[in-house]
Amino acid sequence: MPIKLRGAKVLKDLSNMDFRVLNMIETLLRKGEYAPVDKIVTYSGYRAKDVDLILSKLNKMKLTRRWKGHFVGYSLTLSGFDVLALNTLYNKKIVFGVGQTRAVGKESDIYHAIDFEENEIIIKINRTGRASFQQIKRKRDFLENRFHYSMFSVAEIAAKREYKILKDLKGNNLPIPDVKGHNRHIIAMDFVEGRELVNVQYIKKPIKTLERIIEFAKTLYQTFNIVHADLTEYNIMYDEENGKITVIDFPQAVQTDHPEATFLLRRDFTHLLDYFGKKWGITTDEVETVIEYVVGNK
Ligand SMILES: Nc1ncnc2c1ncn2[C@@H]1O[C@H](COP(=O)(O)OP(=O)(O)OP(=O)(O)O)[C@@H](O)[C@H]1O
Ligand SMILES: [Mg+2]
Repeated sequence: MPIKLRGAKVLKDLSNMDFRVLNMIETLLRKGEYAPVDKIVTYSGYRAKDVDLILSKLNKMKLTRRWKGHFVGYSLTLSGFDVLALNTLYNKKIVFGVGQTRAVGKESDIYHAIDFEENEIIIKINRTGRASFQQIKRKRDFLENRFHYSMFSVAEIAAKREYKILKDLKGNNLPIPDVKGHNRHIIAMDFVEGRELVNVQYIKKPIKTLERIIEFAKTLYQTFNIVHADLTEYNIMYDEENGKITVIDFPQAVQTDHPEATFLLRRDFTHLLDYFGKKWGITTDEVETVIEYVVGNK
């Protein structure tokens, strides 16, 4: 399988010692803007000479970035952070290999991957903060790392959030991807057949499709107390072979007791009913009727 993701590509070239140093940098970055070389030496227990060799290798591979001020320190690049997460997913036997890019969005990069049984899966790499990071990097170099690290944690929090929701919903026969595992800012899940509704040219029974979406929202609301909050034609996959729908993209989902839950539910369905009306030419119930049905008598 041709490997496109830099982090995955370099995995096989890294030894346990390399990983230990990379891990150490990550840990030290939680405390300061750069991981000082002398601290890396002390904490790793490796000889200074070896650490230097490893650091120059990591830097050459563009997994770290060297900084020289009143001390010499290192920060992680995006690829460095990817490598740490992918290596953990590999060690946990969740992701065996990463292949082609499937989609690149504002907030995430999606890659084809395979698991240890050679099933086709998907990894979703959260990139929250990437756009603003690039902006800041251009403007103010000295802020780079502080912002950089907080970008890692923001991406990690978003991925964890999505993972938790998918995991809580798992095994209930819902039309969502089966989540396989997660580490840091990466989630592994089943590959969903079909394409986003927005890119579908023909639906046999649009009313049936809309009904399936409404049923899903109802179960999500009434049984699991969740509102998806971004239920659009971009986040609903449609399989032309069998008319099945699968809802993806959950990091923004909220609990039904969230103060904006009803607002978000109404926003989702105002948009969806309008979309189905315009694109698929079907007349639907009023938004309020649908909302009442989704929410039930609770
Ligand atoms: N499990 C999956 N199986 C197949 N394709 C997927 C899967 N998850 C995501 N994708 C593809 O990746 C695209 C983006 O995924 P998703 O909607 O989860 O991320 P996103 O955060 O919305 O990205 P964006 O920044 O573009 O909004 C989807 O539109 C879909 O084409
Ligand atoms: Mg999306």
